[in-house]
Amino acid sequence: MFDVAITGTGVFTPEHVISNDELVVAFNAYADRFNDQNAGAIAAEQIKAVPHSSADFILAASGIENRFVLDKDGVLDPARMFPALPARNDDEPGQMAEMAMDACGKALAQAGLTGADVDLVICAASNHERAYPAIAVEIQQLLGAGGFAFDMNVACSSATFGIQSAADMIRAGSVRTAIVVNPEICSAHLEWRDRDCHFIFGDVATATVLQRGEDAKAAHFKVRSTRCATQFSNNIRNNNGYLRKTRDQMEDRRDMQFMQNGRKVFKEVLPMVSSHIADHMTDEGIAAGDLKRLWLHQANKTMNDYIGKKVLGRDPEPGEQPNILQDYANTSSAGSIIAFSKHSDDLASGDIGIICSFGAGYSVGSVVVERG
Ligand code: COA
Repeated sequence: MFDVAITGTGVFTPEHVISNDELVVAFNAYADRFNDQNAGAIAAEQIKAVPHSSADFILAASGIENRFVLDKDGVLDPARMFPALPARNDDEPGQMAEMAMDACGKALAQAGLTGADVDLVICAASNHERAYPAIAVEIQQLLGAGGFAFDMNVACSSATFGIQSAADMIRAGSVRTAIVVNPEICSAHLEWRDRDCHFIFGDVATATVLQRGEDAKAAHFKVRSTRCATQFSNNIRNNNGYLRKTRDQMEDRRDMQFMQNGRKVFKEVLPMVSSHIADHMTDEGIAAGDLKRLWLHQANKTMNDYIGKKVLGRDPEPGEQPNILQDYANTSSAGSIIAFSKHSDDLASGDIGIICSFGAGYSVGSVVVERG
């Protein structure tokens, strides 16, 4: 068995940012428009008026202040309310592959590697732009990587499940250098006209390079152990698949986008994640006092505060459990990796931290790392 190390991470951040205020102005313009156009049916109580959204509510309920998106104009156009992301020709790089390449380039540079050194590409994400050929195989080709590549989808837990898959293969010797990439185009799967969730998601791509420990050239994190768990629930669901209709027919196909029962998710996922991390730490012989950092899934600030307090047995000190959701919103599988990538350089040799993601499935994945 070989030791495994994380030797590089990279984040691609789209250039367009939408603040809560901008989002709410667009949503409320859409709501007014809808209510005007349907005034008769609303007065006759055949349909309900769309109520206004509020930036204060969004911040208080989620902790989100901004989100990055691939296309801002389409999202903020009250007559449109979804991003304009034209379909690519088959001979052009796909959108996911393109953003993945940016993140991969940064992660490989940090590891001191090139694409040719890679012999496994896993594209692990919630939202895929096509069924096949695998996005990962396209990325493999663009990187000039060898070996093999495949896609996987465990919703918001895709990154940690991808890291476990890659780490297990490196441990066993079937792979030497892997890159796990999480291009998340959440904006294309969000119903921007639904007040309950229109503020939740943003777009981003992250990449994580894993190697044999003995190959790590510079600063790195040893992967001490990984743990994944799943338990079926319909409380976060997206029925988009081969039944998908075109956008024109989307009005009555709401379940072909992200759907959630946020309150139930809150109640059911919190205990699942807290005990998952606690059990993982116990089995690794790690006490709360040994833990220097928690890089959690980035869906909701209250949720993260709760998990941090449960795991540490006290309120986390500033910086112990860094959040990035105020800037990026929920970026599905990429969130915990953005937090790890941006808030891990300062750890000293021997410091221990946990990357943990959770979400639809339900699913939860944790990775115990130690600064090398
Ligand atoms: N603006 C103003 N008011 C809003 C609103 C908005 N954008 N969205 C909802 N409200 C209203 C609701 O209508 C409701 O009003 P009521 O009390 O009169 O019925 C009230 O605010 C509370 O709504 P609720 O949906 O219960 O809010 P919440 O406190 O549960 O927060 C979430 C909503 C989604 C932020 C929260 O449930 C959450 O983050 N859940 C976990 C999500 C998660 O981890 N998902 C995983 C996804 S990968």
